[in-house]
Amino acid sequence: MFENSKSLEEYQNRFPTWRLNLILTIIQKKVEKSAVEKRELPLVWSYMHMFSTMQVAKLLALRRGLDPELASLTCAFHDIHTLLTGSTENHGVNAAKHIREIVLEYNQNSRGELPEITEEEVDRIINAIAVHSDKKIIANDPLAELLKDVDSLDSYLHGLIQWKESGRIPRGNKVLKEFNIDFLIEE
Ligand SMILES: [Fe+2]
Repeated sequence: MFENSKSLEEYQNRFPTWRLNLILTIIQKKVEKSAVEKRELPLVWSYMHMFSTMQVAKLLALRRGLDPELASLTCAFHDIHTLLTGSTENHGVNAAKHIREIVLEYNQNSRGELPEITEEEVDRIINAIAVHSDKKIIANDPLAELLKDVDSLDSYLHGLIQWKESGRIPRGNKVLKEFNIDFLIEE
């Protein structure tokens, strides 16, 4: 997609995703270093869900007039606790410490000429992720709503059964409708 002859600024002018791309590198290094023995979910699931939610998030953010990079960072981080520890328990709230650690590494050592990820952005990401597991509750934060919607549709697209009680089906259908896709997830 991007040509190697372009400068960093020109890359950034194309699509605002370079902070996210670098964050993914830091996450990958952390996964390689972590020696998780037992995983509740296969590592491949955590990876594919991380990558696909962040891409769907970019599109949905553009559709909704939200910041696509902030939305995709939120999705990339949303199951970070499970990715790094193997545990799904309270993973929304438990994501915060990993996010702060990774963003600190990015801001202090890795970002080069890229902009910092600000405290305000970190707080918004953490707050959205903390509430993402309950899909039945409508959040008054558009970023949290985007995450819940993307998480719901993405799990369906990866073939997971959508239990009615999960609250995921109407969310997935809402996104399909927003994209003008004439297809419904059946209850
Ligand atoms: Fe998820």
